[in-house]
Amino acid sequence: MAETMKRRTLLSRLWGAGTGLVAAAAAWTTWDLLQPLPTVGFGGRVRSVPPETIAEGAIVEVPAARAFLTKVDGELMALSEKCTHLGCRVPYCESSGRFECPCHGSVFSRGGDFLAGPAPRGMDRYPVEIEEGLVYINTGDRIDGSAPGSLVVDEPARGPACAGETH
Ligand code: FES
Repeated sequence: MAETMKRRTLLSRLWGAGTGLVAAAAAWTTWDLLQPLPTVGFGGRVRSVPPETIAEGAIVEVPAARAFLTKVDGELMALSEKCTHLGCRVPYCESSGRFECPCHGSVFSRGGDFLAGPAPRGMDRYPVEIEEGLVYINTGDRIDGSAPGSLVVDEPARGPACAGETH
């Protein structure tokens, strides 16, 4: 009789432990399923290049982020390629060393500062993080470009503008 009770107690405890484990697994699975999926394309975090590949003053386009990476005074920054005027894509002009919008002529320094044209501010930026040896651009968290007059890069054009005139 006593042995039957011990067996019942043991089975009852095993059943309780098993039920607890199943409940814990179900809770974990539910919690895991409810977590937002990481966004890895434009609109989320975009993985790009190793930070050491971006030299001071270099401009590296990251098409998946619709942005340019550059380094100014040692600071790594990601500039949105979308013009702050009406949204045209702003290419970098190698000859002038500036960003020049082909739509209405806005011009920005290599650091994204507003220099000329109808754009209301400098180029917008995205936060960057270095993780596992790569630069991640958070395109879901746009930062408005600086107001006209505040210059991160204050230098003359290197040469002729791509549009054919020197700014
Ligand atoms: S869209 Fe770039 S200047 Fe108008």
